[in-house]
Amino acid sequence: PIQPPGRHQPRVHPSLLEEPGGRGRQRAPQSVPQGLQISVGFQELSLADRGRRRRDFNDVGVNTRQAIEHVQESKTGTSGVMIKLSTNYFRLTSRPQWALYQYHVGYSPEMEARRLRSALLFQHEELIGKTHAFDGSILFLPKKLVNKVTEVFSRTRNGEDVKITITLTNELPPSSPTCLQFYNIIFRRLLKMLNLQQIGRNYYNPNDPISIPNHRLMVWPGFTSSILQYEESIMLCVDVSHKVLRSETVLDFMYSLYYQVEEQRFRDTCAKELIGLIVLTKYNNKTYRVDDIDWDANPQCTFRKSDGSEISYVDYYKRQYNQEITDLNQPVLISQCRRKGGNMMPGPVVLIPELCFLTGLTEKMRNDFNMMKDLAIHTRLPPEQRQREIGRLVEYIRKDDNVQKELRDWGLSFDSNLLSFKGRVVQGEKILQSGNMFDYNPQFGDWSKETRGTPLICAKPLDNWLLIYTRRNYDTANTLLQNLFKVTPAMGIKMNKATMIEVDDRTEAYLRGLQQSITSDTNIVVCVLSSTRKDKYDAIKKYLCTDCPVPSQCVVARTLSKPQTAMAIATKIALQMNCKMGGELWSVEIPLKQVMVVGIDCYHDTLSGKQSIAGFVSSLNQTMTRWFSRCVVQSRGQELVDGLKACLQTALRDWFKWNKYLPSRIIVYRDGVGDGQLYTLVNYEVPQFLDCLKSVGKDYNPRLTVIVVKKRVNTRFFAESVGSLKNPPPGTVVDVEVTRPEWYDFYIVSQAVRNGCVAPTHYNVIYDTSKLKPDHIQRLTYKLCHMYYNWSGVIRVPAPCQYAHKLAFLVGQSIHREPNLLLSDRLYYL
Ligand SMILES: *[C@@H]1O[C@H](CO)[C@@H](O)[C@H](O)[C@H]1NC(C)=O
Ligand SMILES: *[C@@H]1O[C@H](CO)[C@@H](O)[C@H](O)[C@H]1NC(C)=O
Ligand SMILES: *[C@@H]1O[C@H](CO)[C@@H](O)[C@H](O)[C@H]1NC(C)=O
Repeated sequence: PIQPPGRHQPRVHPSLLEEPGGRGRQRAPQSVPQGLQISVGFQELSLADRGRRRRDFNDVGVNTRQAIEHVQESKTGTSGVMIKLSTNYFRLTSRPQWALYQYHVGYSPEMEARRLRSALLFQHEELIGKTHAFDGSILFLPKKLVNKVTEVFSRTRNGEDVKITITLTNELPPSSPTCLQFYNIIFRRLLKMLNLQQIGRNYYNPNDPISIPNHRLMVWPGFTSSILQYEESIMLCVDVSHKVLRSETVLDFMYSLYYQVEEQRFRDTCAKELIGLIVLTKYNNKTYRVDDIDWDANPQCTFRKSDGSEISYVDYYKRQYNQEITDLNQPVLISQCRRKGGNMMPGPVVLIPELCFLTGLTEKMRNDFNMMKDLAIHTRLPPEQRQREIGRLVEYIRKDDNVQKELRDWGLSFDSNLLSFKGRVVQGEKILQSGNMFDYNPQFGDWSKETRGTPLICAKPLDNWLLIYTRRNYDTANTLLQNLFKVTPAMGIKMNKATMIEVDDRTEAYLRGLQQSITSDTNIVVCVLSSTRKDKYDAIKKYLCTDCPVPSQCVVARTLSKPQTAMAIATKIALQMNCKMGGELWSVEIPLKQVMVVGIDCYHDTLSGKQSIAGFVSSLNQTMTRWFSRCVVQSRGQELVDGLKACLQTALRDWFKWNKYLPSRIIVYRDGVGDGQLYTLVNYEVPQFLDCLKSVGKDYNPRLTVIVVKKRVNTRFFAESVGSLKNPPPGTVVDVEVTRPEWYDFYIVSQAVRNGCVAPTHYNVIYDTSKLKPDHIQRLTYKLCHMYYNWSGVIRVPAPCQYAHKLAFLVGQSIHREPNLLLSDRLYYL
């Protein structure tokens, strides 16, 4: 009934003179390549050697340890008890002894097209060999040519003779990082030989899918791998990875979007939602990234095949893949082919939405508890099972004769056992709460039971507060009030009866109610909402965080309705309200004096695609129970760091107001740093922090430590205990073997998990004039993981990072501008 997305008469699509991407053609059978032609990863190879920085996901070549004097000798801590661990790393037992030779390739007359340059050069394959990497001007070979300068002649198709000059420019020893990257390229080729499919940076096995029929999902099991120089040796890190495939096609998705948004926004919304997604075409089990949508084309358009004949997409897909396209008016998707083999034609691939299946999870799916639970059964593997899955890759490699031969030819071999070594478990922390000291069971990582009924460190009174609800939820609101009266005395919170405000269920009614009732004495506002509707929540938060700065607590009525959990929920709400008003819940012992701890995390607004938001949170007092919070909202193109500098300035000013002196140490935990961004951080952000400190005053010279926090790592640790593998206990610290020699880095397992494998967090101290021993930095970091007030337990990152994350998230999701600074000394965003 509706006009489908797309239109038009068939016509030749101008950008396409190839078969859909040159990929439709049957390529040579997928057997083992004769010799190895490495052209896959030349972009990465040409990295450091061109004097121009390319993004390297492993941040190879950024040596920060050399500038940190006190860890030159050793960066290893000693405190705690030893624990036997194994990890998902395999040692290289032998490595190639060849060096890499780098050549510059020049053409006379000058040839522009890279493809042509490549084709002309490889008319001399007998000279160059099958193993090479070439990006159009730089050539890497694992063997040396006889002469330093070699001249050869090639002939173009129209008979023109071209002189090619191949000049040796560099010789890279087997130990050079570039050689290591060559190993990664070789290894990726082996994965391809095993018929694994590359999606993003990982490889998946389409032949072994897991079906989850009740949610119409498929999961491809797969692997992530990388070979790098670690502390003692070069190792291969392998972890399991899973790709979720949906049964929804891009066309289905477009239709459902069409019903949701206004007509004139439809195309923009499609572009926003779809561009960048990975889609799967089941007719060949390949995946593509959507780079564009061509609304002017449709399946009846034709393109010219390499033999010169014209064919429509409909006919092409019918003939080539026996696929029936039923919707002839849909637009087409464009994917720029990225991984070009040397002899494959690069160019855009045209895809038909109806034949493309979506991959990955949407936000909505992530919030579907049952779906995530069913998915977790297959993807959250406990230690033993994870080890088995990792072992499968080793097994695939061992059993495949062709792969084995390749490895032998290259002189590469790997240990078949996981790396074993010793880590340390540092002492557990005691939880301090108004004169009491609590031990908790680290296996649960949670102390809510132990501290129940104990007064808080600092309980803010509820003298003057509002409770706003709709008529239908009158009873619910009243019950909440009664329950709060029951639970607050034990916490030491003094509470008056709330001012009750009944409104109808419209957003404006809530806002008007607030406007009319909030006074300068209002401590906090509690809103009972009748649904999880985001727009209402956003409007309330926006009003109360910017125009009318008052702490607020929203709660959905349904959450309060179950009698058996009502008390627990009331307790939780009372704690959360107290934090939002500037109360303090608990602390741990922190021996360091005069230190300001900072947490930074970023949020990238994917919806509008424009804003970046950084949360900045810094401690205000010695016990780290009070925090200063600020947020930077930057539109695209602006540097986040300029805003961070301003945050640090305000934070120091506030610290001074509270303490009457300035901190002598500042320790920054920087989260939200992507793979490959370390270089920028070290060379741009850290100098800005130093600049900011200098600007405070001539005599002010605090010690600065900057630590990059990374939660998304592929490293996993397993504790070996009598013939089985378990998760290592919280407090496990690793600063040997799997760390990097050029960094001052360590891992901490701070959490306990019930399902699956616990993920360690990686900490990389990139700048440090503190002279604190590694033990001290590690212990402090672990202590800070105990200080997140919205969870009575240990979390994965230091509390200020989590606060910064939550703040940035709230602003990015709901408020979209910087909150009022009057709230900045309270955790109003919890
Ligand atoms: C694609 O993979 C599925 C399993 O996920 C398999 O059943 C199907 O035959 C494969 N199709 C092609 C064309 O390889
Ligand atoms: C931490 O801040 C709170 C602010 O209310 C204050 O009561 C407490 O004394 C401070 N602690 C230290 C050690 O400064
Ligand atoms: C705090 O905890 C509550 C309940 O556990 C949760 O609903 C809320 O989202 C949390 N807040 C933040 C900012 O994480």
